[in-house]
Amino acid sequence: MTGCALVTGAAGGIGRATCLELAGQGWRVAACDLDGAEGTAAAVRDAGGEALSLAFDVRDAEAARDAHRRAEAGLGAVGAVVANAGVADRLARAARIEPEAWRGEVEVNLTGAFLSLQPALAGMRDRGGGRVVAISSTAATDGLAGQVAYSAAKAGLLGMVRTLALELAPAGVTVNAVLPGMVATEKVEAMPAEVRDRARARVPLGRFADPAEVASVVAFLCSEAAAYLTGAWIPVDGGIGLSNLTLGREE
Ligand SMILES: NC(=O)c1ccc[n+]([C@@H]2O[C@H](COP(=O)([O-])OP(=O)(O)OC[C@H]3O[C@@H](n4cnc5c(N)ncnc54)[C@H](O)[C@@H]3O)[C@@H](O)[C@H]2O)c1
Repeated sequence: MTGCALVTGAAGGIGRATCLELAGQGWRVAACDLDGAEGTAAAVRDAGGEALSLAFDVRDAEAARDAHRRAEAGLGAVGAVVANAGVADRLARAARIEPEAWRGEVEVNLTGAFLSLQPALAGMRDRGGGRVVAISSTAATDGLAGQVAYSAAKAGLLGMVRTLALELAPAGVTVNAVLPGMVATEKVEAMPAEVRDRARARVPLGRFADPAEVASVVAFLCSEAAAYLTGAWIPVDGGIGLSNLTLGREE
């Protein structure tokens, strides 16, 4: 499959890598972010691909519809959407989180993901094909102390993709979620060394993912080779979601 792929959060670490990977597979890329993602679009063009930068806030339904119209006018029908924009700004135990902080995280990470992909659904159904990928998190399935709104929103995405997968399967549209663990994006690398070391020690593969290692799974899900894969939740987490329980002696 190729055509226009619309990627939100495209100025960030995983979004940028996803745009580059999709372009490498022949997709024309609409790189979307709050203030656009011209740096990402330029990197795609430098690599020989076709891309444009679009600015919109995923919380704004009308702005999302307008971005889809502009993507379609510039790059053709939207055949894939990667709902990747996200925030994880607030660290607070559940007993103390303010209602506004809760609403803010759910608004971007869950409602925003839906609003940013919804405009593509009717066209995909009418054309008889398409790909939708939501970037969730292992926080959805494993929990993440101190980030109750984030993990609840990311878990909400899992219910969303199962339902969309059912609704759109008759049209040959697949809808899946990717659940990254710890990814070495700028924000993660900027965390205090002590926090990073503690997190790294919990990853069975012993390191954080490169953003390209998440992007390659997203691009696979958008490919023809993944035509029979829908409604799936795919961890890309180096095994961090595995139980660390051992009953025998350490070898
Ligand atoms: N980095 C990790 O370790 C990790 C782990 C699990 C899941 N994730 C998820 O992967 C996705 C990408 O994360 P990243 O690490 O590349 O983060 P990032 O902060 O580098 O990128 C996120 C992008 O989303 C954009 N964004 C935020 N709010 C927006 C809004 N309202 N409208 C439009 N765009 C908005 C930001 O401007 C930013 O460019 C997120 O959904 C994140 O929750 C990341």
